[in-house]
Amino acid sequence: MILGIETSCDETAAALVDTGGRVHASVVSSQADLHSRFGGVVPEIASRRHLELVGPVVRATLDEARLSLDDLSSIAVTQGPGLVGALLVGLSAAKGLAWSRRLPLTPVDHLHGHVASLYLGPDQVEPPFCCLLASGGHTLLLDIRRRGSFDVVGSTIDDAAGEAFDKGARLLGLGYPGGAELDRLARAGDPDAFAFPVARVSGLDFSFSGVKTALLYAVRGLGAGELHGRRADLAASYQHALVRALVERTRAAAAGLGLTRIAVVGGVAANSGLRAALAEAVFAPPDLCTDNAAMIASAARYVLPVPYPEYLGLDAYAAATG
Ligand SMILES: Nc1ncnc2c1ncn2[C@@H]1O[C@H](COP(=O)(O)OP(=O)(O)OP(=O)(O)O)[C@@H](O)[C@H]1O
Ligand SMILES: [Mg+2]
Repeated sequence: MILGIETSCDETAAALVDTGGRVHASVVSSQADLHSRFGGVVPEIASRRHLELVGPVVRATLDEARLSLDDLSSIAVTQGPGLVGALLVGLSAAKGLAWSRRLPLTPVDHLHGHVASLYLGPDQVEPPFCCLLASGGHTLLLDIRRRGSFDVVGSTIDDAAGEAFDKGARLLGLGYPGGAELDRLARAGDPDAFAFPVARVSGLDFSFSGVKTALLYAVRGLGAGELHGRRADLAASYQHALVRALVERTRAAAAGLGLTRIAVVGGVAANSGLRAALAEAVFAPPDLCTDNAAMIASAARYVLPVPYPEYLGLDAYAAATG
């Protein structure tokens, strides 16, 4: 039984996963409300809130599964990438818990965690497959030949897909993070009402800054009164452009790699337009798309644990290791 802990951004999360990938408990405490009035995550506030929540969230997770620390075989924790102050809270808590029981500790890369959301539950995806990882901080196309590793074959040259959704939502006057709200608004709109561009960057990379600027100009071009009536059309057309870019490049990557199976993970995998447009793909379950600790415990199954007491020297890292 692995206890996973995730604190890389603004979700404090813990989960219990067994070696077969069954989730026994998963608790996610989102700080989104705390950060919404700032229009984004404030790192220092996130760290302080993680500090308050990490203990109670671990306790609630153990209670949910009716287990205690005595039942654990190891502890897994996100080491990076993410906000360093936020990561350090989870890493320190995990070190303390592991040390108190002389348990091994497994440091997990957050991006490997997102992919490992596909290796949970009864319908686990088996490599080889082409994976689109689209989240708030990353947009990657991955060649996956075995569990626990991947090769990056494409990435964004500017904004991440989730960031593009959030910035678009903000232009439309929605809250933060607005991706899910924009998705809801788009359902009532016409995706062909506005012609937003899909960037033509070389290879398998993405660019979302142009479409974001196109939305800005469209919003500016409408009067305040008119804007309100067209918001759903703007949302639907903007989402349509983002989804088209994601779908085109993902299909091209899979074809180029000779892979017939496509999987999608990360917060943007929850998007209903993407799910409909890439109907042949396997999507992570909606509750495992955005940050959670079940995916971290899942990924730990494919990483060598660090024995006591060597892990006490582990440090967090902010940027993707490549
Ligand atoms: N239904 C949806 N449609 C579009 N975007 C969505 C939807 N639901 C969530 N998102 C977006 O997903 C992102 C959050 O995903 P996730 O939690 O995986 O990212 P993150 O952890 O912040 O970034 P990273 O994993 O790269 O560090 C946000 O940008 C959010 O707006
Ligand atoms: Mg994430």
